[in-house]
Amino acid sequence: MSETTQIVNLSPTVQYEVRGEVAVIRLANPPVNGLGDTIRTGLSAGISAAHDDAIRAVVIVGDGKGFCGGADLRQFGTPAAAVKPSVSEVFDQIQALRKPVVAAIHGFALGGGLELALVCNYRIAQTGATIGLPEVNVGLLPGAGGTQRLPRLIGTGQALEMIQNGATVTAARAAELGIMDHCVAGDPLDAALAFLSNSVPEGAGAPLIDDRPPASSEGVDFDAARRRVRPSTRNGVAQLAAIDAVEAATTHSIGEGLALERTAFVRLVDSPEAKALRHVFFAEKQAAKVADIDRATAPRPINRIAVIGAGTMGTGIAMAFANGGFPVDLIEQNTDALDRGVRTIRRNYEATAAKGRLTAQQVEQRIALIAPSLDLGTASTADLVVEAVFEDMAVKKEVFAKLDALCKPGALLASNTSRLDVDELARSVSRPQDVIGLHFFSPANVMKLLEVVRGDATADDVVVTSLALAQKIAKVPVLSKVCDGFIGNRMLSPYRREADFLLEEGTTPDRIDSVLRDFGLAMGPFAMSDLAGLDIGWAARKRLAPTRPKHLRYSRVADVLCESGRFGQKTAAGYFRYGDGSRNPVPDPVVEEVIRRCAAEDGIERREISDAEIVDRCILALVNEGAKILGEGIAQRASDIDVVYVDGYGFPAYRGGPMYYAQNLGLAEVLRKIREFEATHGECWTPAPLLEKLVRDGETTFQ
Ligand code: NAI
Repeated sequence: MSETTQIVNLSPTVQYEVRGEVAVIRLANPPVNGLGDTIRTGLSAGISAAHDDAIRAVVIVGDGKGFCGGADLRQFGTPAAAVKPSVSEVFDQIQALRKPVVAAIHGFALGGGLELALVCNYRIAQTGATIGLPEVNVGLLPGAGGTQRLPRLIGTGQALEMIQNGATVTAARAAELGIMDHCVAGDPLDAALAFLSNSVPEGAGAPLIDDRPPASSEGVDFDAARRRVRPSTRNGVAQLAAIDAVEAATTHSIGEGLALERTAFVRLVDSPEAKALRHVFFAEKQAAKVADIDRATAPRPINRIAVIGAGTMGTGIAMAFANGGFPVDLIEQNTDALDRGVRTIRRNYEATAAKGRLTAQQVEQRIALIAPSLDLGTASTADLVVEAVFEDMAVKKEVFAKLDALCKPGALLASNTSRLDVDELARSVSRPQDVIGLHFFSPANVMKLLEVVRGDATADDVVVTSLALAQKIAKVPVLSKVCDGFIGNRMLSPYRREADFLLEEGTTPDRIDSVLRDFGLAMGPFAMSDLAGLDIGWAARKRLAPTRPKHLRYSRVADVLCESGRFGQKTAAGYFRYGDGSRNPVPDPVVEEVIRRCAAEDGIERREISDAEIVDRCILALVNEGAKILGEGIAQRASDIDVVYVDGYGFPAYRGGPMYYAQNLGLAEVLRKIREFEATHGECWTPAPLLEKLVRDGETTFQ
């Protein structure tokens, strides 16, 4: 290897060293070497220094976990973002050097990181590195040349697919596509230095993507790509802008294309949708952090997992762990249920394979990780047991008592209960410190959210283990303390209450669902209830009836529907009716008659209800309960509540979640509306004390 000179700090985050005739510029801006102000100034200084006649070539390399994760999202909208030079000015400087510049990539080159690599003359990557332009996922498009250079490099069709979907590929695949010149197993810096001395002839004109003509549009159907963008998708606007920009790469010179891309980027970056998506992006990352646990707390090792109950949830949970590569014992009490569960798992995996998202081999590998069993004793080898039996405290306590007797010391004992008291369950065993709630959402193999329910006695390392494990299986964990319904389902109760009240006051299930879908929710409350089944809530209401305060308003609509056997999709009738085997909700005059009758019997006068009132009553019910949850310390932070609703309940990500939405409306305005509802509808609208305090103190955010 060539001689090393002294390492010079060109800025707080960029180092420069000369190895023989090669300048090595090292980006060192943890956590992802984001292209913040100090990286830009340092990189610029490095390129200037490389004009030195003694320097023949340059290698740009990343320190730490990866090459470069792109723009520094933390700096968006701050003065640091405006510090010169801009990203594109630095990129111009790199291209103007006219000496070979090699990007030596390990870990990842994402977004602006890949765009940086695209203005280099050569790209060398470590095989496993993650490569892509994922900007659309945060409501943006690649804004530093990605939409113009990638099509010129690898062809328009492939580039469009990567950019529109924001999906990443491995470096090995990137090399097949032509993004990488070389893929190596070892250190990419060593490989880059070797490449420069062996493969790049003295004085060779270094190839630049910008010297290529516009990309060919042959065989690429841009209009078909536009039609594929579903209006309900969280980043539809960004996808459409990205498609336009890629199309421009086929019709415009590089300079014109870059200008068009820039204009589209600037328009998107300040849009409310992109700001909300950035909020969700950071909220998801922050949710896994626990403020009051020592960061040095080590997780317990998890090698084998047992799931108890092979019903709706147990099968999905077993798949979620198998997808993360964990061996799972799936334990049932009766043969039929177990066989049904195993069949469901196979059917689900095969359906995924049919869509091209898994190979036949992957299907078999994952199924092989799930060992069905009728013997609870199998759980004795597990490091984590997830109980997903019937939602009945007595049944759960019986299972936990047996687990307590047979599980190995230190095994985590988790319950997937949706609302039962995790502390009561913990008190029923001899090791309450090992008990935790792991509340998966249906379908558990698909939904990203995992509520991690920390009981009074739960040990810190059990919390840490659960959060780390969730991330290993690609879930977004949110910590909740114990209360009825935890964060998500507790907020759902007042939301559903308002939807029911609005029915009696003058609307229909179809109207409310469609107004809330227009607001952006994936599903309206009534179609969602029909999907989940009305019988579960009915059983709970009957159980709780004796303790219900009699002076509070109560809607009987759901009870009357259940009394006539309408349990939702499973009985082809609920708030809607369903054609043979169809999941498509059809408005049903019978239900409207039930609503009118209940309203008349309870003396509720029906009136015109505006769309705005439907949105305010339902969404602010979520917000007010969310503020109570935050004030009581059930949730760690407002953004955690946003994550729960975006990732678990279909709240539109482009609105940032209910708490972010409330902040945008203005907390004072939210409180004013809630007080108005309280005056009309009574104490169920009592404002959250935290909300009152924040407004009194003149605060504009929940933090
Ligand atoms: P399910 O009724 O589909 O499945 C429960 C399964 O547990 C049945 O197959 C039953 O045979 C089995 N089982 C019962 N006692 C057992 C025992 N002692 N040993 C082994 N297996 C036993 O119920 P589902 O919907 O899967 O719910 C399970 C748990 O997950 C409940 O606590 C529920 O509240 C919770 N949950 C349900 C969600 C849903 O959307 N269905 C969402 C999130 C949580």
